[in-house]
Amino acid sequence: MATERWDGLIVGPTLVTLAGDAGYGLIEDGALGWRDGVLVHAGARSALPAAPEALAAEVVQASGCITPGLIDCHTHLVFAGNRAAEFELRLQGASYEEIARAGGGILSSVRAVRAADEDALLAESLPRARALVADGATTLEIKSGYGLDFDSERRMLRVARRVGEALGIAVRTTYLAAHALPPEYAGRADDYIDAAIGWLPALHAEGLVDAVDAFAERIAFDPAQTRRVFEAARALGLPVKLHADQLSDGGGAALAAEFGGLSADHVEHTSEAGVRAMAAAGTVAVLLPGAFHVLRETRLPPLDAFRAAGVPMAVATDCNPGTSPLLSLRQAMQLACTHFRLTPEEALRGATVHAARALGLDDRGRLRPGLRADFVHWDVRAPAELGYWLGGRLARGVYAGGRRIGPPPAT
Ligand code: NIG
Ligand code: FE
Repeated sequence: MATERWDGLIVGPTLVTLAGDAGYGLIEDGALGWRDGVLVHAGARSALPAAPEALAAEVVQASGCITPGLIDCHTHLVFAGNRAAEFELRLQGASYEEIARAGGGILSSVRAVRAADEDALLAESLPRARALVADGATTLEIKSGYGLDFDSERRMLRVARRVGEALGIAVRTTYLAAHALPPEYAGRADDYIDAAIGWLPALHAEGLVDAVDAFAERIAFDPAQTRRVFEAARALGLPVKLHADQLSDGGGAALAAEFGGLSADHVEHTSEAGVRAMAAAGTVAVLLPGAFHVLRETRLPPLDAFRAAGVPMAVATDCNPGTSPLLSLRQAMQLACTHFRLTPEEALRGATVHAARALGLDDRGRLRPGLRADFVHWDVRAPAELGYWLGGRLARGVYAGGRRIGPPPAT
């Protein structure tokens, strides 16, 4: 019998606990209780220690399914403007790389971010974050990387933190100054990497950086430059992750693994050796089917090799204005099932359990007493529907730290 009343209790739905290493961990006719932002009961209604009304201040009877809150572990959500015009160019035949080499691509977003002040950047970014939350996200990773100078990178990271505060969600920030070479450093990539490394300690001291990322690619930074960024992160005790092997195999996954990276992301071109290195290091493969879909890629990540080697696969939106203007993690799960043939269960684990690990978080991602009360109440009969429906409104209630944060009522 609880000595203190719980803050909330939902009885009746199917709990999708994701307990254990496989399976949904379903509990039919479940009961989910929480207090002070933490789950205190995630089990069968019949296992409740007393009558519901005696346990909690607020008791709700419901049907449907409850999953852990979704965790979007790779986004570039903070940006200004958009790149719909480039999308049109690509549909007429121009490639992503050609547009980038001509000064468009990431650099066009850099121009827009540099011209936007902090409030404007927040105002543009908040609706995107609200959309992700409305479809079940309770934790977001947000990268810098469209500023590429000290003040603009700092502004992006500050806006990322403000998004979390405004919406009552957890935001993990990632420093991605090594995303592209800004025009003022043209022909001087090593000097730019020196500068980007130089900005990091101050941003870290301000509490703005939870992890460090880079874009290792022939149109971005080479392995030696990426290594220098990682060494700077390591010197500050910051974990690393990497945009690895997206357009070509540059050995990025193995490099991320060498530094004990939390994750290697995209990984369409990762080799067998890269997969083995990731498995040995415990590095998560973050699959980004939105970018694959929008760029109309055909090369699949080495999914069977990841499975065989036991590399955990996360799924994220990669929400960004260039390659993945995707505002729903549930939709990313659907794309992972359709394009990568993940099972709906793998996709759900990818957006919860494995996404938490890709962010180095061990207090969320499943329904279990002691974990954060981050969960989503869905209008579905079975969890496979989360990887099945395209669009629509399935989330009935999104809770972060036990507080209902979305979705807004239908109008
Ligand atoms: O994850 N690959 C590099 N970064 C982003 C795209 C950024 C952009 O085009 O604006 C990605 O796909
Ligand atoms: Fe990305």
